[in-house]
Amino acid sequence: MSATRSDLLADPSEIRARILEDHERLRKGFDRIELLATRLLLKKDPDVEPLRAMGLEMCGAFRRHMTYETDMLRPALLNADSWGEERVAVLEADHDLQLSQVGVVESRLRDRHEDSHLLCMLLLGFLIRLRDDMEDEERMMLSDEGLQGGLAIARDLGPR
Ligand SMILES: [Fe+2]
Repeated sequence: MSATRSDLLADPSEIRARILEDHERLRKGFDRIELLATRLLLKKDPDVEPLRAMGLEMCGAFRRHMTYETDMLRPALLNADSWGEERVAVLEADHDLQLSQVGVVESRLRDRHEDSHLLCMLLLGFLIRLRDDMEDEERMMLSDEGLQGGLAIARDLGPR
């Protein structure tokens, strides 16, 4: 999902709602990939191609999601309160790391010589990390605590 012209007029609570909807869509995609990867590992499904296709589709969707967050959440956080710059720094560091991880996963998914079991394990581990990152993001930047100017942001920047 990338920002459109009408998004530029969206208020912070709308941005928050769109990001949370996006997270839910991504999680449903993760569920499907995890099911497929588990079936492959259990040898209940011999064909790795659907997993490659779903994995690449998920990587594209995640890239679009990060673009939307950078375009929309970044300015909203900066304007929310005096902790905005710190939250943006966390968001950008997370995105940098996620982008490099997505790039690695995409190249392994495109490699026809990649072992299918290793590919399953790689994807399962990657999705665990993405789920954790999305939970952290919701807790730190989109939670119901610390509402400021219509944008729900958490005050706690520390570790869980
Ligand atoms: Fe996100």
